[in-house]
Amino acid sequence: MTRVVVVGSINMDLVTLAPRFAGPGETLLGERFLTLQGGKGANQAVAAARLGAEVTMVGAVGDDAFGDQLREGLQREGIALDHLHRIDDCGSGTASITVAGGENQIVIVPAANARLTPAHVEQASDAIARADAVLVQLESPLETVEATLRMGQRLGVPVILNPAPAQPLPLDWLKLARFVTPNQHELAILLGADPNEDFRELMRRTPCPVVLTRGADGAWYRDGGEPQSQGGFSVDVVDSTGAGDTFNAALAVFLKDDLGTAVRKACAAGALSVTQLGARDGMPTLAALDAFLERQS
Ligand code: RIB
Repeated sequence: MTRVVVVGSINMDLVTLAPRFAGPGETLLGERFLTLQGGKGANQAVAAARLGAEVTMVGAVGDDAFGDQLREGLQREGIALDHLHRIDDCGSGTASITVAGGENQIVIVPAANARLTPAHVEQASDAIARADAVLVQLESPLETVEATLRMGQRLGVPVILNPAPAQPLPLDWLKLARFVTPNQHELAILLGADPNEDFRELMRRTPCPVVLTRGADGAWYRDGGEPQSQGGFSVDVVDSTGAGDTFNAALAVFLKDDLGTAVRKACAAGALSVTQLGARDGMPTLAALDAFLERQS
């Protein structure tokens, strides 16, 4: 069984469905409100578990009711929680999400996620040493992201760095990652480049292997040599929240396949994830992913 460790955020998603996005100073009547579990780290952990991996989550929740619910949600997915920390006198992370026309807008309050430290990563070194892949994103403190990358390097375990939400990082950190997995906007910010520059040129300049997500158009990947493409899969989009998380999780789970196959499966898993509301409801099981891919061929 593939072993995956996720170092990252855990949020309660406060989701409002609206006919469109409100402008500054504008009040709109929404259509529905839901409280759903999310957070890029926790979503990636859930997606990897559904795809059959043995998953350990390294993260933090607060000592509030959300914290208990978030822990139970991860437990129900069979995720190992020995490294899930409950931070006293602290709230759990939240994401206020508006969904309109299949697109989303998100505002995050990190709360307990901001208290995930390099020491927590160090405490998880045994789990990381046994892992086939580690996933880390940018909703955790940057020193914790750096500690994860350095530990992966030290232990010879591949780390997939999902640089979302977008922010600039020292380029030296990228060299520690087995893959960096931005979209075009995130890659431009990482490299301090013009976002309108051709993404293939940005990929050639990235100092580590890169898998670039292109939404409905699929993904491009480069592990040395020239960038290669994988087309997208056509599905009915309900909510794109969590698509990137599902993509990253699948990439980690199938990393032992050849890269082209892993990226194809990641695109398919990401496509399936957008067919349901919320970050996690559409995340496929391994059987659902296999059946979907079978129907494509
Ligand atoms: O990637 C989707 C996630 O981003 C949401 O679940 C939300 O919590 C934010 O972290």
